[in-house]
Amino acid sequence: MRNVLITGGTGLVGSKLTKVLADKSYSVSYLSRKSSYQKQGVSVYQWKLKAPEIEKSTFENTQYIVHLAGANIGEKRWSETQKRLLVESRLDSSEILYTKLKAHGQNIKAVISASAVGIYGDHGDDWLDENSGVGNGFLPELCSNWEASVKRIQDELGIRTVMLRIGVVLSGRGGAFFKMAKPIKYWLGAPIGSGSQFISWIHIDDLCNIVIKAMEDSTMSGIYNAVAPAPVTNHEFTSMLAYFMEKPLIMPKIPKFVFRLMFGEMSQILLDSIRVKPERILQSGYQYKYPTLDTALIRILKKAKGRI
Ligand SMILES: NC(=O)c1ccc[n+]([C@@H]2O[C@H](COP(=O)([O-])OP(=O)(O)OC[C@H]3O[C@@H](n4cnc5c(N)ncnc54)[C@H](OP(=O)(O)O)[C@@H]3O)[C@@H](O)[C@H]2O)c1
Repeated sequence: MRNVLITGGTGLVGSKLTKVLADKSYSVSYLSRKSSYQKQGVSVYQWKLKAPEIEKSTFENTQYIVHLAGANIGEKRWSETQKRLLVESRLDSSEILYTKLKAHGQNIKAVISASAVGIYGDHGDDWLDENSGVGNGFLPELCSNWEASVKRIQDELGIRTVMLRIGVVLSGRGGAFFKMAKPIKYWLGAPIGSGSQFISWIHIDDLCNIVIKAMEDSTMSGIYNAVAPAPVTNHEFTSMLAYFMEKPLIMPKIPKFVFRLMFGEMSQILLDSIRVKPERILQSGYQYKYPTLDTALIRILKKAKGRI
């Protein structure tokens, strides 16, 4: 049986990925901070980022590692303490993986790691692909250091590594979609700032399928933008979501400065315009299940029914 070890497997993406992997007859184990976490069919190993001891058997019979661990970027205001947590949770976990793989990584065929399209920073209407440069600010710097911490596994240990620059993940189980849909449900929805900033999004099913393709396709290596091929503006996203939720958009746009006052530097996540093309994913031959926002939203709203 093929085995996959997921770090951060208890989160939004990891939980869905676990199900998709199980449906494809993979066995799954987690590296988690939670000592008592239990999930049927999943072996859970514990790790502590400040005391990097991991049970030796963790890597036994494992062929693939999917590295998703990291403190949630959109959960809390970015105080200096929170920023440190966002950085350390990613760099320290990568460092532990690197060290353990150096000692026990002989059977590992590939490491697939999360990164984020936030690496590009604000670029207005410009299309961005994997060759575009790193932007300015906290998020681009965080993502760039995160990718560098994973790249060592490829460069120094020779293990094939794929880094996925993930866009806003749309899921009917939580995450950004719920934050966007909730105000609309209560007639409080409105575009943010000018509304002309681009959102690069991906349906969670496509993201999970891309992770699995990256595991199985030995020609894939390096950086890939994990986004749908049709990014939309914030205004288009909000309007389409309101349309499918059958709610009117009656509120005025939320001015940038108000949004900045509410969320501080974290407001960058929704104010930056990041229009990303999944150039290398398309070249790899991957066929999207949800290439356009309308098909994705219809599906997500069905899944989220009763939860928003
Ligand atoms: N969701 C998105 O829209 C999106 C977009 C771009 C990139 N990404 C990236 O993709 C990855 C997975 O996303 P997700 O939405 O599934 O994230 P999530 O729901 O926040 O889950 C991340 C997991 O990381 C672990 N974690 C949390 N805080 C940690 C800390 N301080 N130190 C070490 N581990 C910690 C947790 O697992 P344990 O409690 O089991 O340790 C958690 O379940 C993340 O790295 C995220 O930044 C996500």
